[in-house]
Amino acid sequence: MNDLIDRVPKQVFRNGSWWDSADATTFGVHDPGSEEWLCEVADGQAADAEAAVEAAVAAQDSWAATPPRERGEILRRAWQLMTDRADDLARLMTLEMGKSLTESRAEVTYAAEFFRWFSEEAVRIDGRYTPSPAGGGRTIVTKQPVGPCLLVTPWNFPLAMGTRKIGPAIAAGCTMIVKPAQLTPLSMLNLAALLAEAGLPDGVLGVVPSTSASRVVDPVLGDFRVRKLSFTGSTEVGRKLVEQCAPNLQRTSMELGGNAPFLVFPDADLDAAVRGAVTAKMRNNGESCVAANRFHVHESVAEEFTRRLTAELDALKMGHGTEDGVQVGPLISIEQRDKVVELVADATDRGAKVTTSGQQWEGKGFFYPPTVLADVPSSARILHEEVFGPVAPITTFADEDEALRLAHDTEFGLVAYVFTRDLDRAIRVGERLRTGMAGLNTGLVSNAAAPFGGVKSSGFGREGGAEGIDEYLDVKYLALAV
Ligand code: SIN
Repeated sequence: MNDLIDRVPKQVFRNGSWWDSADATTFGVHDPGSEEWLCEVADGQAADAEAAVEAAVAAQDSWAATPPRERGEILRRAWQLMTDRADDLARLMTLEMGKSLTESRAEVTYAAEFFRWFSEEAVRIDGRYTPSPAGGGRTIVTKQPVGPCLLVTPWNFPLAMGTRKIGPAIAAGCTMIVKPAQLTPLSMLNLAALLAEAGLPDGVLGVVPSTSASRVVDPVLGDFRVRKLSFTGSTEVGRKLVEQCAPNLQRTSMELGGNAPFLVFPDADLDAAVRGAVTAKMRNNGESCVAANRFHVHESVAEEFTRRLTAELDALKMGHGTEDGVQVGPLISIEQRDKVVELVADATDRGAKVTTSGQQWEGKGFFYPPTVLADVPSSARILHEEVFGPVAPITTFADEDEALRLAHDTEFGLVAYVFTRDLDRAIRVGERLRTGMAGLNTGLVSNAAAPFGGVKSSGFGREGGAEGIDEYLDVKYLALAV
């Protein structure tokens, strides 16, 4: 295990080389499952961010001129390297983030898939050539890279949230600076080394870990030559970043918070609904913006659904993510666990009932047991705030209109899940839901080949799918006289 950590570069990455931070300071990265320190990482300063911008700006023109096929092949090699090293990448992720090895392996596959997908998209950047309606001219429409980008990634998916920004940026011909989350910088630093090995030219990618996001973000967004920000994180921070991009009118992609409803209709296949609920709730320990945050179940099946979901969650094995058979790891931090404790206490104070056994965790690590709450009153905070933990609050509804009214009782609009055997209802409800995505009889929508993103306070812009590369391309129109 020490060997694995030893092999990870721990400095600032820029222009193809590794550097101490400008003031030679470092910060510690911890294991949330043991509360032990894993290692120290360079604490990036404003000067490091500025130097990374210079490298990205210097590399931009030649990178944009690099043939799309070549850019695609670098991504394809990176996909292969990630696939070959999946076990090590997963173990490293589990150590710094806590999720079980099974979850980490799934994330490595998901993350690598963004590289494979965008290796295929790099050569499909299209345009148009049309005669002018009035004659005497032609309209040529082409797409060009937006230019150097800032990519700010969260701790919950330390690799996949990076690759789904880096993949399309590379495919489109943009250079970039990545600011990884302070809590999980190791996976991203490792990825930078892997991309260099795959042949990514110097200057195309910079990675600046830091204990202060603003120390990196302010100088980068303050530089007019940086033309885009892609951010995954909280709505609160997203709002501030959009404001910060206003003076330089930088383009933004915002993948923000969620409050996903999970709707179970009376005609649902209950086996499928419970399986879907376990996935939608427990993937990544519930620490995901697409995690089902609240379950609205038709009153005729609520008791049965609650009983079965309780049994499934009670059977999950909790423990350090690296241990065999563990399905539920710790939460990322003590603050995150405290927030879950607080939301559950608020719900039970208002009358909700805990139906799971409430297994307790003795010892180190920020663990919280999988928990089902029944009879949750509509005033409970847990129905309105993103819990980011393994808690499933259940309420009931009487008909489709009420289900939709409950689903829409939120400022967020990332994803919703719908379980019904009635295809008409699935399509009807799916289309009426005010969300960017909906899972119809599935608890998992995440897929590199599909456009991931939300509406309302969940943000804008799409990652993945054919749409993902457009976030990194500007449309250029050439008027041709003939
Ligand atoms: C997120 O939680 O931010 C994204 C999850 C996913 O891509 O599945």
